[in-house]
Amino acid sequence: MKELMSNRAHQLKLAIFAATGGIGREIVAQAVTAGYDVTAVVRNPSKMSAAVRTVTADLATADAAKLELAISGSDAVLSGLGARSSSEAGVAWRGTQAIVQAMKAVSVRRIVVVSAAPIGTVPSPGRPNPSKHDPGDGFFMRNLLSPLTKLALREHYADLALMEEILRQSGLDWTIVRPPRLTDKPLTGVYRIAYGKNLRRGLFISRANVAHLMLRVLDQPESIKQTIGIAN
Ligand SMILES: NC(=O)c1ccc[n+]([C@@H]2O[C@H](COP(=O)([O-])OP(=O)(O)OC[C@H]3O[C@@H](n4cnc5c(N)ncnc54)[C@H](OP(=O)(O)O)[C@@H]3O)[C@@H](O)[C@H]2O)c1
Repeated sequence: MKELMSNRAHQLKLAIFAATGGIGREIVAQAVTAGYDVTAVVRNPSKMSAAVRTVTADLATADAAKLELAISGSDAVLSGLGARSSSEAGVAWRGTQAIVQAMKAVSVRRIVVVSAAPIGTVPSPGRPNPSKHDPGDGFFMRNLLSPLTKLALREHYADLALMEEILRQSGLDWTIVRPPRLTDKPLTGVYRIAYGKNLRRGLFISRANVAHLMLRVLDQPESIKQTIGIAN
């Protein structure tokens, strides 16, 4: 599969947003290794260690022309964007909306983003009454962990729920990856996934393996317009 991925990789141009984040850095590293043509879009270029084409853009105040230039000619956009603190919450939906508008302006259709495992049960304006429980969650997750994290991270999760809604309504070829708690463990390429639901007893996943899935789905048309749960 690695060989297949790298054969196709040579033809693909990727625009990678939030390339200096935990997942973003992993996407860039794995994409470069696989031979993709990478443009990294970051708000702070001094944090970039990989030697790839880099565009500077703060997604809280994004300039449309700059985003269009960064995305133009790409085969796909990948985004690890997310608020680093609750005071920054709102950046995921606003930034993704700006990315979506720029993609439409330059006719790029494919986008893969990171959300979070509980978001299927978080209301958003277009989906005010989501399912109370994710079909993949077991008793402990449904009744204890999910309610607690939803309380602690409510601004982050409202931001991600709106980001998901923007993608669902975008008409683009989106895939949303919903990880549980992220770790910095190394890439293994060994993990479970499920379309449209979380994984039973799936409490952790490494950022490296999330990045692996985000690149892998580029070759999987069945992942278009899907949310995907991932876990160890
Ligand atoms: N932590 C968890 O356990 C967990 C679990 C499930 C889902 N998630 C979601 O997964 C996302 C990615 O995880 P991660 O560990 O890679 O997060 P991270 O390291 O905090 O990365 C967030 C990225 O978003 C970028 N960003 C934030 N505001 C921006 C702005 N105004 N303009 C441009 N870029 C901006 C950051 O840029 P800088 O590098 O310049 O700060 C960073 O690259 C999280 O944000 C969260 O929504 C997290």
